[in-house]
Amino acid sequence: MQTFSFISKTAEETAAWASRLADLLQAGDVLALDGDLGAGKTTLVSGLARRLGVKGQVASPTFTLLRDHEAGERGTALYHFDAYRLSGVDEWYESGFDEYITADGITAIEWAQVIREALPPETISITLERLGANERRITVNWSDARPLHTTIS
Ligand SMILES: Nc1ncnc2c1ncn2[C@@H]1O[C@H](COP(=O)(O)OP(=O)(O)OP(=O)(O)O)[C@@H](O)[C@H]1O
Ligand SMILES: [Mg+2]
Repeated sequence: MQTFSFISKTAEETAAWASRLADLLQAGDVLALDGDLGAGKTTLVSGLARRLGVKGQVASPTFTLLRDHEAGERGTALYHFDAYRLSGVDEWYESGFDEYITADGITAIEWAQVIREALPPETISITLERLGANERRITVNWSDARPLHTTIS
């Protein structure tokens, strides 16, 4: 398990970091995003999407639970979930969402804590903490050895 942490000072910095993280990702990866309202989870996903070149605009999936972005130039789809309004793992499984995380794409789940038990052990865990108006501490816990330090510019 590796833990990696840094401070982001702007929304763009968070998105740019996520773009570099995207270069380390591969189909089948699952990212669990946790942090309070407005911490920057959706902002982070927009950086991923930008780099992956997937189709469609990233927006908060709060009312739809899932936004499914078809693969673009890099050939990898992005499944963007928001578990905030899910009652728990039962609803997750009943909705068939579990099939996405085994599908051929990258899955990013906001409020992942709600369905934590449903996530694979190799899930990449990213926590965002608000330290100030624009300052966020971003902490990544990752069970494999991909070089996270390369994501710092
Ligand atoms: N360093 C930063 N990183 C990310 N976002 C930042 C930062 N500084 C300011 N912001 C602002 O904080 C807000 C983050 O909103 P965002 O929708 O990404 O949060 P969220 O964690 O997805 O919230 P929710 O739980 O409601 O889905 C945006 O308005 C963004 O511009
Ligand atoms: Mg959000």
